[in-house]
This record gives sequence, C-alpha cells and structure tokens, in this order.
Amino acid sequence: MCGIMGYAGHRQAAPILLEALKKLEYRGYDSAGMAVIDRGAIQVRKTRGRLQLLANMTADGRDMPGSMGIGHTRWATHGEPSDRNSHPHLSHNGHFAVVHNGIIENYRPLKEMLILKGYVFRSDTDSEVISNLIEFYDQGDLVKTLMTAAQHLEGSYALGVLSVDEPDVIAAIRKDSPLIVGRGEKENYIVSDIPAILNLTREVYLLEDGEVALLTPESIVFHNAYGDRFEKEPFHVDWDVSAAEKGGYEHFMMKEMMEQPAALRETIRPRIKDGRFILDDLKLDPDWIRHISMVYIVACGSAYHAGRLGKNLLESKLGIPVEVDIASEFRYRRPILKPDHLVIIISQSGETADSIAALREAKAHGVRTLAIVNVVGSTIAREADYTLYTWAGPEIAVATTKGYTSQIAALVLVTMYLAQETGKMSDEELGEAQEMLLRLPEVTEGVLSDHREVQRLASLFFNCKDIYFVGRGIDFSLSLEGSLKLKEISYIHSEAQAAGELKHGTISLIQPGTLVIALVTQKRLREKMQSNIQEVKARGAVVIAITLQGDEDIKHVVDHSLPIPYLSDELQPVIAILLLQLFAYYVAALNGNDVDKPRNLAKSVTVE
Ligand code: G6P
Repeated sequence: MCGIMGYAGHRQAAPILLEALKKLEYRGYDSAGMAVIDRGAIQVRKTRGRLQLLANMTADGRDMPGSMGIGHTRWATHGEPSDRNSHPHLSHNGHFAVVHNGIIENYRPLKEMLILKGYVFRSDTDSEVISNLIEFYDQGDLVKTLMTAAQHLEGSYALGVLSVDEPDVIAAIRKDSPLIVGRGEKENYIVSDIPAILNLTREVYLLEDGEVALLTPESIVFHNAYGDRFEKEPFHVDWDVSAAEKGGYEHFMMKEMMEQPAALRETIRPRIKDGRFILDDLKLDPDWIRHISMVYIVACGSAYHAGRLGKNLLESKLGIPVEVDIASEFRYRRPILKPDHLVIIISQSGETADSIAALREAKAHGVRTLAIVNVVGSTIAREADYTLYTWAGPEIAVATTKGYTSQIAALVLVTMYLAQETGKMSDEELGEAQEMLLRLPEVTEGVLSDHREVQRLASLFFNCKDIYFVGRGIDFSLSLEGSLKLKEISYIHSEAQAAGELKHGTISLIQPGTLVIALVTQKRLREKMQSNIQEVKARGAVVIAITLQGDEDIKHVVDHSLPIPYLSDELQPVIAILLLQLFAYYVAALNGNDVDKPRNLAKSVTVE
C-alpha cells in the first residue's frame, strides 16, 4: 500500500514531506523515510516504526537541508519492517533514490540478473530492484531511463525518483498504483492521495498508467507511454480541507462515524428528484437495463459486505440472480460473463488492486461495469463504464464506517433506479422507498446522538477473548461487517455465523460466559432468530441483541438489548451497523489500541 510524497520547490523539502506523510500514514505505518538532494548529493534518512520516529530523528525534517525530496510511509510486503527495508532505496552507486508503492512480481529474476552484473543489494525488498534497474538502464535522459526500466517491471508501481545528475527534477511514473501530481506556486508535488496536499494546492493531475511526469519547482512536464510530451488537463479539487482533519475528535474513526448522517444525505438527496430516482451520473441505456440477466457484485473487505446486502436487495426487488464475489477470488475463478450481465464493483478508495483487476477482467469479457466509488477520479471510477459516487468525503481511519454505510445507500439507490426503469416496482412502492431513504440521515443522527449504552456494554466486555456475531439474511451480512469491524481494531478474535448454521459447528465453541451479539432487525426472521438465541443461551452464552424498538419478547430473552428505530428492511443494516461500529470503537479504545491505524492493516490495499 504505502504512501508517497514528493516535493520540488524552493522551501526546505523535508518538513513539508513529513507534514504530507502524516496524512498518508493510513496507507501504511510500519516504517518511513525521506531522501533529499542537497548540493548535488542525495541524503537518505529512514527508520522502522511510525513516522514520528523519523520526525524525531531529523528534528522534524530541519536536519535535512535541500528543496527537492521524496518521502515514503511503508506497509511491508517483501521484507520485514526494518530500517534497511524502509524506503527510499538508493541505487548501487547512490545516483538514484526511489520510493515505491506496489509490488514488483518479477523482482527475483531482475535481482539475480543485477547481482550477476555486480550490483549489491542492501535490503530484502522487491522495490530495491527498481533503483538498481534505473541505474542499469541509465542513458543520461531521465524519461528514457525510467521508461526503459519500467518496461522490465512486472506488477504494480507508483514511483518517485531522484537523480543526482538532474538535481532539480523529481520524476514519477505509475502502473496500477495511484499517483497524483499537484501544481503549486513555484513548487510542485507528487502524492499517493489528494487529501495529503490539500493544504498546498487544489490543482492536481491524475497520472495515468505508463505516463511519466517530470517536476521542477517551476514546471511539470508529462510524457505519454511512447515518450512524447503532451499537455494534461488539471483537475480542480473543491473539497473542504477540514474534511481530512480530525476536527476536535480523538480519532478519525469517531469523526467519520459521526459524519455518517451527512455522508448519507449527500449520497441520497441529489438522486431523488420530483418523486423519481435520478441517477444522471450513470447514463445507463434503459433498453439494455431491461435485458440484464445477471448481476455480479465484486469487492473486498467491508465493500464486499455491502455487496452482500446489495444481492438481497437486487434479487428481491428485481428478480435477477446476483452473485457476490470477493475480488481476489473473482479475478481467478473464471466466472461466466456474458454481454447481458452487469458487474458492479464497490470500492471506497477506488484503488484496491484486486477490485481493479476484477473490473478489468469483466471489461476484457465485454461485460458492462458499474462502479460504486467514493474517491473521485480514482482508477476504478475512471475505468468503469458507469460510476456512481458515494459522497462520503475523505475517509482516513483504516476501519471504514461512513464509506460502508454510504455504499449501502448507493446500492439501494441503484436497485430502486433499476426497478423504476424496468417497471419492477409500483409508483407507490418507489414513493415509499424514497420517503424512507430521505428519512435515513435524520434517523442515523438520532441513533448516533446517544450511544451511552453501547459505550457501557463495551466497558463490560472489552476484555473478552472471543466474540460471536449471529444473524439471518441481511442480518447475517451485517454480522460479518460487525465482526470484521471488531476484530480489525480491537484484535479480539471474532466470527460471524449465519444463525441457522451455528448448530453445524460453531456452537461447540459456546461456553458459559461467551459473548454472542445477535442481530434481530428483520421482522420476517425474528422468530427463527429467537430460537437461535435460545440455543446459545442454553449453552451459557451472554447475549447482546440489536433489536427493533418495541420488540419486548427478544428483550426478555437476552441479557442486554440495543433497540433501533425501524425504517424498512433494506435500510435497517445502515442503522444497526452504527451500534456495531461504536461497540468496536469503544472496545478498541478501552484496550488502548491505535484505533485509526490498527496493526498490520492499511486503508488502501493497492497490492494484490
Ligand atoms: C481495506 C480497508 C477496508 C476496506 C477494504 C476495501 O482492507 O481497511 O476498510 O473495506 O480495504 O477497500 P475499498 O477501498 O476497495 O473499499
């Protein structure tokens, strides 16, 4: 994953690099480093551990003179987190310094070839082959050198490169890993993600695969994949800078949970006009919509969990079969793809490597693709045939919250729109769905405004060893997300089970005192859930139930209940998950964990 920042200007580079890297730390945080050019020489400082260590080592960057520099924050793939595996990596003769985000899949043969040519390697990373390969192909022209080296690289990369021979230039190239170029006042930047430079500029260029950018303080020159210069259109970013700041909250995660009503409002409101669902941004051909015979929903992590809810929605409202796939499975399982199929890719970042690959796989089969994405201009948003944005704003905490709930809202919108266009739902049903969707932000606001009971329950159970989540139907998909949220930030072992499946294995793990969180938000399945709760209670489990307000029966069966207001079956997950997010947050915080940056994880998974 990793975060990259590069600065070409007249101010001291290192403090500016550190400032931006702080905002990129969510991409990886097991080591960090910087390289700057000063008086014709490259100086590198890097360390294992958090960015703060690098800041301490360099007096917040002041110890590194020079106004051209590149920086990196790492999420280890090849080689353990250590000082020597940290980026930047110098080439053998020290003439080039490289920061890399991605994975070089053919690094072994390249490394062997370079070793035979006398190159000495100082790290266990795949990335170090890049700096050495650049040196190997050095032909005195940075663009040509970089392109030649890149031709030999297989895998994914976003690169920032410094060269002692061209001390006023930073070079950048990318393939399948994100890289943005920013234009400032007498200074320019490269960066992995836009929010990190919003305090510096709002004029950005989205570098495409194979393109090279050369940055000096005064200029940005782009070369296309053939090496020819060309002009690129900048893109103006009009987001609020505060959206990427903590704004008084202790953690981004809490801030982002509290932003959910606004994110939902922004995602839903513009899409409902005059009693109709209007998805202008999609421009789907109504004739073709009527002929869709099958839908695949493909995603990773929480987005996959949102996709599972999408399956319930689309199947029940449209009567079309829907398959939901984890992107890393989909891309290799040779799914049956036909021209009247629709592939929906869901991704908050729009940069998840497996989701990008799945999208490309679908496109290669000539299948139409629709992306539900949060980050504007991201790879998936650009490459999909149709893109529906969730307007959740920048999400920084590694554990997604507002990204996930706005994905569900987007899936409801897509479902309703398709049902409207194909006449599968009556005007009355559509009108009711609109009313509920429009009420959703306000209802979530209500739930978030008083969560003392969740906090109290977290304080009772924060030192549990195992926690099980159970539900049926939509509530099972929600259980998966609740369990993921908990385990990723609290480090407590957790599993989610379809409640009816408990008796086929997992119930053997239930002992007196085991905590089970039962989701009972689907009216249709309530009785069945009640029986499953009795089954675990009979084995001594302590049960917390998320129930619908007024469901007194369930309340009396369980140990603790968290009632939520009822809107509609399809929107209950958005309301219920708020409590599970808060529970995970408080459990993690009470365990003293770094809530925003849980161990071993990263927000944007740009490697396979
Ligand atoms: C990472 C994040 C998750 C996210 C998943 C998919 O694992 O920590 O929160 O759900 O990637 O990311 P995407 O950006 O494609 O939604």
